[in-house]
Amino acid sequence: MARDGAAYVCQSCGSVQTKWAGQCPACGAWNTLVEEITARPPGALAPARTGRGRGLNFEGLQDATPAPPRIITGVDEFDRVCGGGVVPGSAILLGGDPGVGKSTLLMQVAGSAALRGAACAYISGEEAVEQVRSRAQRMGLAAAPVKLAAETSLREILEGLKKDAFELVIVDSIQTMWSDAHEAAPGSVTQVRAAAGELVRLAKKKGVAIILVGHVTKEGTIAGPRVIEHMVDAVLAFEGERGYPFRILRGAKNRFGATDEIGVFEMGDAGLAEVKNPSALFLNTAGERAAGAAVFAGVEGSRPVLVEFQALVAPSAYGTPRRAVVGWDSGRLAMILAVLETRCGIGFGDRDVYLNVAGGLRISEPAADLAAAAALVSSALDQALPQDCVVFGEISLSGEVRPVSRMDARLKEAAKLGFRRALAPADLEGVAGMSVSGASRLADAVRRIGDGEW
Ligand code: TYD
Ligand code: MG
Repeated sequence: MARDGAAYVCQSCGSVQTKWAGQCPACGAWNTLVEEITARPPGALAPARTGRGRGLNFEGLQDATPAPPRIITGVDEFDRVCGGGVVPGSAILLGGDPGVGKSTLLMQVAGSAALRGAACAYISGEEAVEQVRSRAQRMGLAAAPVKLAAETSLREILEGLKKDAFELVIVDSIQTMWSDAHEAAPGSVTQVRAAAGELVRLAKKKGVAIILVGHVTKEGTIAGPRVIEHMVDAVLAFEGERGYPFRILRGAKNRFGATDEIGVFEMGDAGLAEVKNPSALFLNTAGERAAGAAVFAGVEGSRPVLVEFQALVAPSAYGTPRRAVVGWDSGRLAMILAVLETRCGIGFGDRDVYLNVAGGLRISEPAADLAAAAALVSSALDQALPQDCVVFGEISLSGEVRPVSRMDARLKEAAKLGFRRALAPADLEGVAGMSVSGASRLADAVRRIGDGEW
């Protein structure tokens, strides 16, 4: 039997088990159950209070609440993903793979906010102060009045933050913090939860905005940021495809704004540079557009983004043809291939299919269906699309091309970047400088690509 107060906690989903097992019964992850002492600190179980409570104090829904003021950090891409700056007293979790650039981004956020007059602190549990300072200097933030500390003890941090009146505090990372009220090892679910809980409480009480860094982990040795997602007001994910300098900041949860916003950055020698015009970035502008390439006019958050889909359809050398996809959903690819096969008579059964979204962006919009199909057809028929053509539209199982959201914005962005025509759902009006080649069925689009007549 487990020791008194001991329990097995899944480091992936946080579920608590009484017995050890190789696989977590709750989330199915392997080798993630770790023994943790969960004994409560003395005095934590206060006796039930007697007497009358304060009673519920109702307020009307229509009563006016002033919009919370925001801390504008000055890193525009970050501010926009947060919903227009950071809300005082809120807790934000920034998750991402180790080495993606979380510390770099937050140093830039703290430095920029401090230069605009906000009282900022950066507490690192991973690097020494000199390391943090020299990185900030390299990033051109030597003059930013950010208070630095290297500390992992939650008690010291809470004491320190009570003394000074900060507006924005960065804690890097939550997995290095430990509370002496718990016996579990730093990085375990118990510690990560306890540390996050205390810091969030402090944020609410003192009205200071706290940003917690959370490493996303594949193994169960340290707890993933998922276990504290419900405690914080906003969850941001920092992503980057290996080998590309581009980094995408995505809102996954936000109590103060929309969650579909993205911020685009480019990692360079002097830290992260904001990318104001992502369309130019994800387009492969060098040279002619080859067969197999189609430019998708997409929308990410509030912004239209143009990105190139690249397909290669090649005879299969083996019995089972390969399907490989980067930056798009493989299930969606299978569906498009099936529709092309049954509704348009283009077979892929004996051919390998590769589909790639250029620039390391991940596209999840259904509006990309027609662009993916156009790239595939263009490669299969070895017929390039016109250089000045963008594509968008959703494809149904019956082979229809359906209208998508914000079609006007897509056309305007494409026109701005020099495109002159769009392969798009039928009955769509063009905009200035942009004509629409409407297709009501996928077969229409396929015919147009094959004939090269536009
Ligand atoms: P870092 O912010 O330390 O990542 P995280 O905190 O998410 O683990 O960034 C680490 C990577 O960023 C590292 O591989 C080096 C790179 N980098 C640059 O290319 N240029 C820079 O100016 C900085 C500061 C980092
Ligand atoms: Mg770091």
